[in-house]
Amino acid sequence: MSVLAIEKKAGRVYIETYGCQMNEYDSGIVSSLMQGAQFETVTDPENSDVIFLNTCAIRENAHAKIYGRLQSLGYLKKRNPDLIIGVLGCMAQNLGEDLFHQELPLDLVVGPDNYRTLPELIQKIRTGKQPVSLTRLSKIETYDEIEPRVINGIQAFVTIMRGCNNFCTFCVVPYTRGRERSRDPQSIVRETQDLVAQGIKQLTLLGQNVNSYQAEGTDFAGLVRMLLEETEIERIRFTSPHPKDFPLHLLELMAENPRFCPNIHLPLQSGNTKVLADMKRNYSNEEFLEVVDRIKKTVPNVGLTTDIIVGFPGETDEEFEDTLDMVRKVGFDMAFMFKYSEREGTIAQKRYPDDVPEEVKGERLTRLVDLQTAISLEQNLSKIGKTFSVLVENISKKSSKEASGRTTCGRMTVFPIPEGKNIESLIGTTLNVQIKSATSATLKGEVV
Ligand code: SAH
Ligand code: SF4
Ligand code: F3S
Repeated sequence: MSVLAIEKKAGRVYIETYGCQMNEYDSGIVSSLMQGAQFETVTDPENSDVIFLNTCAIRENAHAKIYGRLQSLGYLKKRNPDLIIGVLGCMAQNLGEDLFHQELPLDLVVGPDNYRTLPELIQKIRTGKQPVSLTRLSKIETYDEIEPRVINGIQAFVTIMRGCNNFCTFCVVPYTRGRERSRDPQSIVRETQDLVAQGIKQLTLLGQNVNSYQAEGTDFAGLVRMLLEETEIERIRFTSPHPKDFPLHLLELMAENPRFCPNIHLPLQSGNTKVLADMKRNYSNEEFLEVVDRIKKTVPNVGLTTDIIVGFPGETDEEFEDTLDMVRKVGFDMAFMFKYSEREGTIAQKRYPDDVPEEVKGERLTRLVDLQTAISLEQNLSKIGKTFSVLVENISKKSSKEASGRTTCGRMTVFPIPEGKNIESLIGTTLNVQIKSATSATLKGEVV
């Protein structure tokens, strides 16, 4: 290293991320902010001066995981008493200072809207030798001009809005992430242009409720149109829209523009109208089916995925059957399925006792997962013989002779690396792959 390159470093920071893609994105923001304050980001907790766990609070086990992880980090703190361990993210916001009362090796608790203060708070801990917390929700913070540092391969996330105003009764997110606010569209365009310049081919736009994106007179479809027109990004995806307000012009844009991937994650939660009302989802099961119908009519060959909760308070066997029925009717390509987990501070916690026994939740989840797995297989088998354009992302997890990537409709596809090619030259390119066989999770094919 040349003498000129030596600068005074404030320390090494290690960040571990839990939860959703928004947390992934936020960890990049934190890394960027810390680098701005002369902290170097490292990949090994053993060799760090600051450890951040960027946490989730969505279900009970998200919390349990962090308690376990903190306990397991205790030995590092014993070895180096100056090591600072911080909890960031949704669990930090959800539990705040209470986290200090649990005999855990913990110095810092900071919520998702307060990351700009991290370097300052670390300084405060270093001088005061006292634990510090800051969990003030903001109505305006969107970290607009901060570009996250981590870039993984050819795919990137961009958060376009923060927070949520929906207050679904089961959900903690409106309390951990605060009120909904949209980023300035121009800053999203600039960030995307920078990502494209760094080799990113596929962008996933993130928000809890992207259909209510609204900034500078631009709605979500308007934002996507701007990105299609003003950047060279090859593929745009997004997650999640709320089924209650799915605009037709967004679907039309998707149908018209091959760079806007025909892939929609549409969280169902339940297939029974009374349960949906208790969840405060603002749609009936018929209305959900109408949205699905409109999507399928406007965007042929769309990939549809969903989230479902079983065992919401009061859910009867018959009401659960309605969920199975709905899953059969829609034919999702894939679903994330969960047992209801009561969360601190939510409306459901105040209003409805968590009265579906654990074994019943377990049985329902098993039945739902079995059904969905069979449907996923059926959906994938129906693609045999067809040819899809696949953006190559990686080497296959199972074989170094195979590459993996996704179809525009979002299906994971694996195929042999063509003779004379190597994986490095293929990553980031788009190939036509004809499907030869399928499992419930993966399509297998050959380059044509
Ligand atoms: N904004 C997204 C959801 C984000 S949370 C949307 O509105 O669809 C991701 C998923 O976690 C939810 O769709 C839901 O299925 C699940 N989830 C949220 N809270 C939960 C809880 N208390 N118990 C079980 N699953 C929950
Ligand atoms: Fe939670 Fe509902 Fe907001 Fe999704 S829309 S983050 S489920 S409150
Ligand atoms: Fe995401 Fe978990 Fe927070 S799902 S928004 S990290 S509660």
